[in-house]
Amino acid sequence: MKTEHAPSIQRADYQPLAWKVETVDLHFRLEPESTVVTNRMLCVRNREAEAGPIRLWGEDLERLSLTVDGQAPQAVREQGALLEIEADGERVVVEVQTRINPKANTTLSGLYLSNGGFFTQCEAEGFRRITCFPDRPDVMARFTVTLEADRKTCPVLLSNGNLVEQGELPGGRHYAKWEDPFPKPSYLFALVAADLVAYERTVETMSGREVLLQVWVEAGNLDRVEHAMDSLVHSMRWDEETFGLELDLDRFMIVAVADFNMGAMENKGLNIFNTKFILAKPDTATDVDYENVESVVAHEYFHNWTGNRVTCRDWFQLTLKEGLTVFRDQQFSADMLARAAGAEGAASACAVKRIDDVRVLRAAQFPEDAGPMAHPIRPDSYQEINNFYTATVYEKGAEVIRMLHTLLGPEGFRNGMDLYFSYFDGQAVTCDDFVEVMSEANNGFDLDQFMHWYSQAGTPRVKASGQWNAADGSYTLTLAQSTPATPGEHAKLPLVIPVAAGLIGPDGRDCPLQLEGESQPGPTTRVLKLTEASQSFRFVGLTAEPVPSLLRGFSAPVILELDEDDARLAFRMAHDADPCNRWDAAQRYAERVALAMAADPSAGVPAAFLDAFRALLGNAALDPAFRAQALALPGEAYLLERMKPADPLALRAALVRLMRTLGTSLAAEWLSTCEAMQVPGPYRYHPGDAGRRALANLALRYLAAAGNAEGLALAQRRFEGATNMTERFGALAALVQSTHPAREAVLAAFHARYRDDALVLDKWFALQAGAWRWDAAAAPTLARVKALMADAAFSLSNPNKVYALLGTYFRANPGEFHAADGSGHVFWADQVIALNAKNPQVAARMARALENWRHFVPALQASIRSQLERVLASPDLSPDVAEVVGKALD
Ligand code: PHE
Ligand code: ZN
Repeated sequence: MKTEHAPSIQRADYQPLAWKVETVDLHFRLEPESTVVTNRMLCVRNREAEAGPIRLWGEDLERLSLTVDGQAPQAVREQGALLEIEADGERVVVEVQTRINPKANTTLSGLYLSNGGFFTQCEAEGFRRITCFPDRPDVMARFTVTLEADRKTCPVLLSNGNLVEQGELPGGRHYAKWEDPFPKPSYLFALVAADLVAYERTVETMSGREVLLQVWVEAGNLDRVEHAMDSLVHSMRWDEETFGLELDLDRFMIVAVADFNMGAMENKGLNIFNTKFILAKPDTATDVDYENVESVVAHEYFHNWTGNRVTCRDWFQLTLKEGLTVFRDQQFSADMLARAAGAEGAASACAVKRIDDVRVLRAAQFPEDAGPMAHPIRPDSYQEINNFYTATVYEKGAEVIRMLHTLLGPEGFRNGMDLYFSYFDGQAVTCDDFVEVMSEANNGFDLDQFMHWYSQAGTPRVKASGQWNAADGSYTLTLAQSTPATPGEHAKLPLVIPVAAGLIGPDGRDCPLQLEGESQPGPTTRVLKLTEASQSFRFVGLTAEPVPSLLRGFSAPVILELDEDDARLAFRMAHDADPCNRWDAAQRYAERVALAMAADPSAGVPAAFLDAFRALLGNAALDPAFRAQALALPGEAYLLERMKPADPLALRAALVRLMRTLGTSLAAEWLSTCEAMQVPGPYRYHPGDAGRRALANLALRYLAAAGNAEGLALAQRRFEGATNMTERFGALAALVQSTHPAREAVLAAFHARYRDDALVLDKWFALQAGAWRWDAAAAPTLARVKALMADAAFSLSNPNKVYALLGTYFRANPGEFHAADGSGHVFWADQVIALNAKNPQVAARMARALENWRHFVPALQASIRSQLERVLASPDLSPDVAEVVGKALD
């Protein structure tokens, strides 16, 4: 079926606006069902643009009045969300008054209510749902905001910048006036009016200024904000030390809200967070939660420079701020882990973080790049910008920045950053500006070809082959690159691909590397720059045939195709000096075994694989966190993309058998590992402890999968005796992913203990939605998911709940979701249609769960197609969902 496209917006069509806004004065009379917004803008003609009317956007607003310099405007044109006003002169004051209904706003974009408080979310185009404004990131204005609300229900009134005035008003109301000294685009505006309390700290910045830091939460959550505050302070220090970037405000606020579409938002001086990424205490948050809080707090804080001080000219440039800021938060987390691990463990801690990031990229971004939504990190068109907050823009975008960092070196990169701020502070710029400045700061380093990373979609393949010449002790490595076609983009140009390479000798040690023409060997890992379609590198001075270890540290976001037999994978699993590649060798071997078992239900687990696995598990010299990574099977979504055609049911059956065999054959080792990984003392968030807990929990998973009685008893004891959420939830997860009759009882006990804790209940929902069927007689997971939708704690209006229950089922449980009778697909369509009416952004995210349906076996394709078509034909489809489903069917 060819679908009619909604109008799409083109990057090439960018035009500056004829009028900009210099200052904006906002007044809010906040009432749940009728909030009146008075907006006074000083509009100024833009000398860099062609003459034209003042253009404002407004959506879902009831307009009460509109004046230009106090008069009725000469001419107003309205088409859709766009309002065009003719005006003379150079500077005019436009005043517009609108009424909105926050209570009725279920989209969580614009001004909305959450638990009785008022919150805003404006990125990307939510500000136009608050007032009429030139709602584009290239309009940077100075904001003054006055909030007026009921004192009892909304004792706290916050907005961007500095508090300049506050006071009482008649009728039990009060007000506060805020001024943001920095010009900013409207997407960074925020207000909060709610019943909250602050956890505060005063710190000194690098230049000796005292600044006030606040984390605002509901009173009952005050005991879980310390970690977020610590993370904020660490982020500030890190940005000062690493990039010389200092906080530019006297006050920096973070607010946690339970209803939020995304993770968090970097509004100037007033970051608003999903509670999930702020609240943490040992009894309710896992090690992974602690890590996530730290990295998301850092991410939003880092945006203050990369995003806010220098912002995006248009939304096509989104990766300018997101790719760069993700790279910054990844580096920060790695440094924090390294510091906590101490000198000895630092390298491994960094590698474990890198492995985490690579896992996310492979699980989320590679499939996106291979599907109908594939786009370059800087897209050329979109129908709905909200659909482009993607793994490609964020995670692949961060990989592109990382490659720049690799090519220029840390110092060259830092020089580029310095120059970037010196040129563009206070401006809205493009990705070209960024890359050009990186080149300029590095003696004109040629980055022209590098720009293809910004314009080409698809995951490049690098095919490597080696030729050993015993006669002269040389090894010739040939690297060939190609990128598969993606929608609308058939011919691909060669990219600049940094390939970090090492050669391992037969003794398992790295060989010194000497390229032909060099006078002496250099370090044992070096970065080969692949720029042609195919290139050869000749290493000399070797005494025996080496084993190549390529793409060390995952030096580029590509798929490496390397012909390696099982023995070679096992060899690298045992010896590769690069932890990322050692992990990758284990993943490749596991993938090979899993896919072979999926293709042939009678195939078993090869003994050599078991041996290699056992050796890693028993290698006490290896960091437990690393072992936990290397011994966890590759993600199911990633494996499905590697399977041609994708058959989720066959894959699931294979994974069940593989997990069981690994659990049974290595039972003694898993049990002793679990014992050995005990963490003494009270809980602390520490990478060493976290690694031990992760490995112990993994051991329980394998033992439970295998139905090992001792393992199951151990899991039950750990569940009951746990003193922290990581251990309690790890044990619970193992029990739920088993045939143990105590499954239901432990789920119920967990629920009873946390019945009033929304974030912990999200884990409880997700665990059940992600459950596999370990015995043939068990009911399908779908029945459980449906039952849980009726649970009092579940709500389709709360994104966290939707992601936990439906998101986990659709995205993380393919073996159940794609049940042969198509029931999962029908359910998916029902939920996407229901969500579409409430919250298009959340609905579109759920809709994306089926976009790669064409990779599936024919029977599933038929079932999925009919449901995609049903959604596309449903009435009142949002542009968000229409784009996703339309492209999937194209
Ligand atoms: N800009 C936010 C971030 O990356 C993400 C976000 C986008 C939040 C859109 C809300 C809406 O940190
Ligand atoms: Zn961001």
